[in-house]
Amino acid sequence: MPTKAVITGWGKCVPPVELTNADLEKLSDTNDQWIVERTGIKSRRISHVDGTDLAELAGRRALAAADMEPEDLDLILVASTTPDLICPSVAAMVQERLGAVNCAAFDLNAACSGFIYATANAAGMIESGFVKKALVIGAEKLHGVMDYRDRSTSVLFGDGAGAAVYEAVEGEAGVLAVDLGADGSKGHTMVLKSMGTNGNVFNSLPPEEMALHFEGQAVFKIAVQGIAASVTRVLENTGFSTEDVDVVIPHQANARIVDAATRLLKVDEEKVFSNIENLGNTGAASIPMAISDALDSNRIKPGDIVVLSAFGGGVTWGSIVMRWGERTERLKLHDGELPPTDAGVFEILEPNLRFFAELHGLDPDAPIT
Ligand code: UT7
Repeated sequence: MPTKAVITGWGKCVPPVELTNADLEKLSDTNDQWIVERTGIKSRRISHVDGTDLAELAGRRALAAADMEPEDLDLILVASTTPDLICPSVAAMVQERLGAVNCAAFDLNAACSGFIYATANAAGMIESGFVKKALVIGAEKLHGVMDYRDRSTSVLFGDGAGAAVYEAVEGEAGVLAVDLGADGSKGHTMVLKSMGTNGNVFNSLPPEEMALHFEGQAVFKIAVQGIAASVTRVLENTGFSTEDVDVVIPHQANARIVDAATRLLKVDEEKVFSNIENLGNTGAASIPMAISDALDSNRIKPGDIVVLSAFGGGVTWGSIVMRWGERTERLKLHDGELPPTDAGVFEILEPNLRFFAELHGLDPDAPIT
């Protein structure tokens, strides 16, 4: 029997403070109807703590779900476009906090495709025998790089983290096929010059260069084609058709991108999982958070064929076909929580609003009404 990488634990960390469409209406010329119709998003979360805190808690929850001790891990791999710092990596900081003293740790950046790339790495190491137990985390604090008065980007993104424990298991379940790709010639469509959300973000570059540069329409088209082509290729590698697929968990970029890709692929839309409405686009965190939510809502059954697919900056893309294992229930629950906060959403966004005010000819001290 071949050894495969099976998800045995999962978890997510959703910060408590919400940024609603009504809040965004106070910051730019946008409205709830436009945002819902064009993106499917009603609300997103804004983190009052570091991205590493989100990653750690998602990781602890995934370990509890697998009933695994941190010392048993061989690898922690964190996918993030918005690490606290470039070095040390989020993975190394999580390793220290968990006390996962027997494992390797590194970060990987493939933007919104990060969790797919990270899973491919972990699965490859498991199949080759280098690693037996891996914690793969997607974590983002995207709000740190947002100009909230730029309506073309600010409505999309949110913060959060999701995690999965992969274990070496002999049998039919686990990662069956991977399709990864990149096209650096289109890299200019999504550019982020920030040096880490706790790095010298607001002093290293002027505001006009600091915000996420994002060519929404171009990305939209590349994403739809890219996801459809990648899923087609990865299914061909397994010999499965779209009929054989039980659940599709796409990167939650925009509900319309997912709908358009679903139509191109001719997948029954009821098989496609979505949780974008109240989380927004959380970059590399979106797929592991969606896996956790899909399990909590009984959308995944033992033995199901599950397809993960993402598209992101770079540009990068990737898809994975896996056969789910025997268990869809957590073995244990981790009862830790993030530290509570009384901060309102505009208090948390205050550094962003102040930094980017001059770009919009605004007084940085003007109250938000
Ligand atoms: O995670 C991977 C990376 N990201 C993505 O996958 C996102 C990809 N792109 C998108 O999701 C979409 O392109 C957006 C949501 C960013 C924009 O939606 P769109 O349907 O492509 O809108 P658009 O850029 O074509 O703009 C249509 C109109 C424009 O007005 P005019 O020129 O027609 O008068 C925009 O100025 O909508 C206007 N507009 C807005 N209006 C209200 C753009 N943003 C907003 C807004 N609120 N937030």
